[in-house]
Amino acid sequence: MTKTVHSPAEWVEIREGRKFKGKSIGFVPTMGNLHKGHISLLQKSWAENDISVLSIFVNPTQFNQKSDLSNYPRTFESDLEAARENGVDYILCPDSAAIYPDQYRFKVTESKLSLRFCGKHRPGHFDGVLTIMLKLLLLVRPDRAYFGEKDYQQFRLVADVARVFFLKTEIVPCPLVRDSDGLAFSSRNHNLSPDQRSLAVYFPKILSQTGTSAAIKERLEEIGFEVDYVEDFEDRRLAAVRIGSVRLIDNVPLKRVLFKN
Ligand code: PAJ
Repeated sequence: MTKTVHSPAEWVEIREGRKFKGKSIGFVPTMGNLHKGHISLLQKSWAENDISVLSIFVNPTQFNQKSDLSNYPRTFESDLEAARENGVDYILCPDSAAIYPDQYRFKVTESKLSLRFCGKHRPGHFDGVLTIMLKLLLLVRPDRAYFGEKDYQQFRLVADVARVFFLKTEIVPCPLVRDSDGLAFSSRNHNLSPDQRSLAVYFPKILSQTGTSAAIKERLEEIGFEVDYVEDFEDRRLAAVRIGSVRLIDNVPLKRVLFKN
């Protein structure tokens, strides 16, 4: 049975209760509008833990544009169905006032990696992500928390937060899941018009081509994307583009796209 919990105080009581003693806990934090990318995380959490917890919270502090926050798709009924079908025991969906009793007076700020790539184009975004993640990880106290490699920079930053604040949670990376035409699943895909959706397909196609990051950026611009960045980081090529008001991110393994000498 899937139980929905709205209040953090109620959740803390449940978490300290008998049901959790000696059990392993998996946690999948999301902003809802669940798709196959999210489902892959839920399935891993279910397979690897005794108890599986999903959070659905559209976190206002990580949106640097008001319109992006108000346009963010909210589909609680179908999310609940997907959670039930994928073995979720608890859904934590608090409201904003309960999560931010300080009205965001306290925040987690990282001063290096969070300023690059997506952080450079979305000021304050990662402060919001890292703050909500520290709060949720302290509330849920999971053994494992699952993050998609689609948001590779986010995964790296959350893993660092867990490590430097001595949290006991293992931050588990999960492979990026794509639609049959190659576009990475994303809640924001719903905001694309049919024409924009047809163009979006070329984002992963071009990003996977061989060439320098500068050449790939040019090719994306040529066919109509506004490109925030294409940059190589660790063993990946990361990119973000905009189609109208919709922002899409993706990444591919670097060994697939570098020139072979
Ligand atoms: P959200 O965009 O809902 O994503 C929740 C989790 O699903 C993230 O770990 C994300 O990387 C993963 N995910 C999304 N699309 C995916 C795909 N196509 N393949 C694999 N995994 C995918 O990311 C957030 O929410 C928020 O920033 C959050 C971490 C919940 C903090 O508010």
